[in-house]
Amino acid sequence: MSETMTHAAVLILLGPPGAGKGTQARMLEERFGLVQLSTGDLLRAAVAAGTAAGMAAKSVMESGGLVSDEIVLAILRDRMAEPDTAKGVILDGFPRTPGQAEALDALLADQGLKISAAISMEVDDAAMVERVSGRHTCEGCGEGYHDSFKQPAQAGRCDKCGGTAFKRRADDNAETVGARLTAYHASTAPLIAYYAARDVLRSVDGMGAIDAIAAELGGIVAEVTA
Ligand code: AP5
Ligand code: MG
Repeated sequence: MSETMTHAAVLILLGPPGAGKGTQARMLEERFGLVQLSTGDLLRAAVAAGTAAGMAAKSVMESGGLVSDEIVLAILRDRMAEPDTAKGVILDGFPRTPGQAEALDALLADQGLKISAAISMEVDDAAMVERVSGRHTCEGCGEGYHDSFKQPAQAGRCDKCGGTAFKRRADDNAETVGARLTAYHASTAPLIAYYAARDVLRSVDGMGAIDAIAAELGGIVAEVTA
């Protein structure tokens, strides 16, 4: 049973590749009944489906660059129009540029919503290559794992759905992670100041244990949505 809230929450998780955005977003979904909205996942689905947006995004994602604001915003607007997002959303990996942040402000204003909190997950870049290189997800339900840091209770069997097939991302290799970190610092890190200026910025230490970070994040979400 998830905790209840009085108004639709809009939470943003900011952080470099490997910071734990996806891991934590899924835990917050379960605890608070929110919907995780990962532009990375939406773009990977578009690539897999072979849509025009997916075909344009594929090579950019494989090189570790950022997909154009135009494509990302079109995908995000479509997803935000789906009824399940009325419960509140956790934006994972969006916005990633000042242009996306401004477009989000306009989209939320149109819907009478505002940002509950933008939470920066503070991590050491040097540790992110190992996190990303060991990552794999369940093919059935998307639950995320790590070769060293988060293994299923029973080897080879997903804790959530019992699935036995796992997949790895095409962009999870050391070279591409370097390019993704560079893109983060050049285009996305400036959003920390953007949200500080709007008085919605919070931060958590993302270098601890997954459950400890989840507890801290949960405290922030409970506070800003009370
Ligand atoms: P996206 O899918 O968003 O990738 P990313 O930002 O590079 O972030 P990751 O998914 O790699 O990391 P995460 O923070 O979710 O970490 P996770 O929880 O999995 O984007 C991919 C690409 O799509 C981009 O490069 C770009 O091309 C494009 N794109 C997406 N959105 C875009 C946008 N808005 N604009 C333009 N382009 C866009 O954790 C990583 C691993 O570490 C896991 O194995 C996990 O089990 C483990 N782990 C997690 N927390 C911990 C912990 N505390 N301790 C130890 N291990 C941990
Ligand atoms: Mg992710």
